[in-house]
Amino acid sequence: MMQRIAVLTSGGDSPGMNAAIRAVVRKAIYHGLEVIGIQRGYSGFIEADMGPMNLGSVADIVHRGGTVLRTARSEEFKTPEGRSKAFANVQRFGIQGLVVIGGDGSFKGAEVFNREYNLPVIGVPGTIDNDITGTEFSIGFDTAINTVVEAINKIRDTATSHERTFILEVMGRESGYIALMAGLAGGAESILIPELRQSIEEVCDKLKRGYKRGKLHSIIIVAEGAASGLEVGKQIREMTGLETKVTILGHLQRGGTPTAFDRILASQMGAKAVELLMEGCRNHMVGMVAGKVVASPLEAAFHGKRPIDLEIYNLANILSI
Ligand code: F6P
Repeated sequence: MMQRIAVLTSGGDSPGMNAAIRAVVRKAIYHGLEVIGIQRGYSGFIEADMGPMNLGSVADIVHRGGTVLRTARSEEFKTPEGRSKAFANVQRFGIQGLVVIGGDGSFKGAEVFNREYNLPVIGVPGTIDNDITGTEFSIGFDTAINTVVEAINKIRDTATSHERTFILEVMGRESGYIALMAGLAGGAESILIPELRQSIEEVCDKLKRGYKRGKLHSIIIVAEGAASGLEVGKQIREMTGLETKVTILGHLQRGGTPTAFDRILASQMGAKAVELLMEGCRNHMVGMVAGKVVASPLEAAFHGKRPIDLEIYNLANILSI
């Protein structure tokens, strides 16, 4: 019988991680388990920066962005020496199962650790990028795209007044999901994403056609992994003579109070992770598929990125002609 589990957040933070931590802690305690909170992801795992959590440890956090457990990207955990230090702490603290809230990089570390030391691990997808195979939504994505859409709305006001072309650079080093979905919701003219090769000429042609038929402004969304917003702005200016303005949203997309959707998702996923550990499941990730929280092998989550939805991309293009 499992008696003590641990929880950590790892990689880039995302709004709703706190709601997930709260769900793990409260669900576990509800079932009579003890919970150890590990600080700063795998760094704290290695350095024994951890301690017991109780019902009060997760009070008043369901609505807060960030992660109360802090997070980090640990290079040391990628080494056998680092993982062996972490295992010493598994023994020292009597940890029998681990919930890792993070992205694919974090899951990869968890899987390797499980293979070496046989500690049952359950992954909870938390990343604004929404690029994880095995789930239609990762925690934080909904909040992030709402942040981007709010920015697009504001930029749209001033863009119309001045009849300007705006370039908005959004996050997504390897994934265009934020750009794509926020672009569709915000009515962007063009969306540049790392998954597809797109020419600036095409973007410029579309811009010119739009202005010719009386458009008052244009908004182009660029995922940081596709190109630099500043560079795209410069190229469009040079190719069309249009005045371009560039806004880089950066890390403000990673913060803020999580939306109701993200809190509900995080609560369901965190609770499911505990259930899975109690059932003896190991090396799985929880995911939302067709409205249900399900488990899939952890491996699937980091073997190959979630492909972009081309139908959505085509739709966004059609609707912005
Ligand atoms: O993984 C989430 C993400 O926000 C990416 O979209 C972004 O490229 C990256 O993290 C930036 O991470 P950081 O600035 O924290 O290293």
